[in-house]
Amino acid sequence: MATKEKGGQKNGNHGGGPAPAGAKSAPKVAPAKGKLGVMVVGMGAVATTMIAGVEAVRRGLAKPIGSLTQMGTIRLGKRTDNHSPLIKDFVPLANLNDLVFTGWDIFEDNVYEAAAHAEVLKGETLAQLKPYLETIKPMPAVFDRYYVKRLNGTHVKKGNNKLDLANQVIADIQAFKKKVDRVVMIWCGSTEIFLEPTEVHQTIESFERGLERSDLGIAPSQIYAYAALKEGVPFANGAPNLTVDIPALVELSKQNSAPICGKDFKTGQTFMKTVLAPAFKARMIGVKGWFSTNILGNRDGEVLDEPQSFKTKEESKLGSLEYIFQPELYPDLYKDIYHKIRINYYPPRGDEKEAWDNIDIFGWLGYPMQLKVNFLCRDSILAAPIALDLVLFLDLAKRTPELKSIGIQEWLSFYLKSPQTPPGLYPEHDLFIQSMKLKNTLRHIMGADLVTHLGLDYYD
Ligand SMILES: NC(=O)c1ccc[n+]([C@@H]2O[C@H](COP(=O)([O-])OP(=O)(O)OC[C@H]3O[C@@H](n4cnc5c(N)ncnc54)[C@H](O)[C@@H]3O)[C@@H](O)[C@H]2O)c1
Repeated sequence: MATKEKGGQKNGNHGGGPAPAGAKSAPKVAPAKGKLGVMVVGMGAVATTMIAGVEAVRRGLAKPIGSLTQMGTIRLGKRTDNHSPLIKDFVPLANLNDLVFTGWDIFEDNVYEAAAHAEVLKGETLAQLKPYLETIKPMPAVFDRYYVKRLNGTHVKKGNNKLDLANQVIADIQAFKKKVDRVVMIWCGSTEIFLEPTEVHQTIESFERGLERSDLGIAPSQIYAYAALKEGVPFANGAPNLTVDIPALVELSKQNSAPICGKDFKTGQTFMKTVLAPAFKARMIGVKGWFSTNILGNRDGEVLDEPQSFKTKEESKLGSLEYIFQPELYPDLYKDIYHKIRINYYPPRGDEKEAWDNIDIFGWLGYPMQLKVNFLCRDSILAAPIALDLVLFLDLAKRTPELKSIGIQEWLSFYLKSPQTPPGLYPEHDLFIQSMKLKNTLRHIMGADLVTHLGLDYYD
């Protein structure tokens, strides 16, 4: 278990006080006082890279590159005002020194051992962080091989039924709450088999009855999520699992003021897709086909090599193009796009994934062209800052009266391959719309003017 840590690193605005520069009225967001407990489900490559990275930043060994909460700025007022504070100085986010980590895994390895196994971080940095990382040991997990067929761990809870297991997770949360002031939970565990919502997922009551009779439709990720939401703890989902994307848990999220968001960290290939596709659409360039393939050799790759877990990931990756291109509005450009996604497990590459995209496009008078993208990325290096930002922003949402009881935080879609929306509302996948939505939400909760980019007043 983790221990409370020192404070110190400075954030400009802890909230609750007078209006920050650029805000029109005093914000209603509660301050980020005390320690923020981060409960991580699955302490593998992404989780250990996030935890080690936060500690490296706290010690001044590295910069939090890739983290919008730590490095991003937000423009306030007109362009001529020249006022763009850091986001962390504008909204009251938890300070990195106030984060305390704990979590669960099906293997007993402490965070140092798990990070060494994942082989994302290497050499000097990892060695310097070893004494700290060794202090964080996972609690026994809720796990069932039926949902992740390629893994077999022994560090698991035993229970009479799924409700009993959920109550054990609730007990873990309650014990951790005694050590910290606020708690957020994030799923960095493996991708589970593809599940579709059924009767058991429709209401809180049917879900609880399902827990009692250990309904097959309730996966381990949903047991953790249920426990978090029952305890009023915000929950983020880094994997494409169904988890909170069901009416029962959306309702519980609202009832207990425990914010949730979409799922599956938007890191490599989909990140690029949601940049390129809006660019083609903005210029009315047609698309005939989009072939995407990947090789990766980490444990995530091994899990995704199993067809039922791959199906969950495939569904999550497929959605973005359809929504961005809106073929119903632009049939001449985007009807019948051939979109294919492949993920191949290739152990020699470890976490250093390689992705290729071949995009068949067409322009003026239908003349064909091609674009090839070859992204040599590092999966967990891209995912870790996203996990951190989701934790910090969900904690912010929980302290914001206007956000905490609405359930889904659509403004966090920016980080996710599968944004979550209420029934009947299509999700926004375009990265730049998502970025604007996120920043305008921050301006809105802090009482600052929204930036619409109209700009006519510069020409009065
Ligand atoms: N790295 C990326 O770029 C990226 C992007 C999007 C999504 N994801 C998703 O994030 C998740 C984590 O990725 P990773 O690379 O860290 O994988 P990983 O295999 O290194 O880590 C997952 C960890 O979760 C543990 N686990 C599995 N089931 C569990 C359970 N029920 N309870 C507790 N622990 C459990 C595993 O033992 C493992 O240690 C995966 O689902 C992956 O698909 C990763």
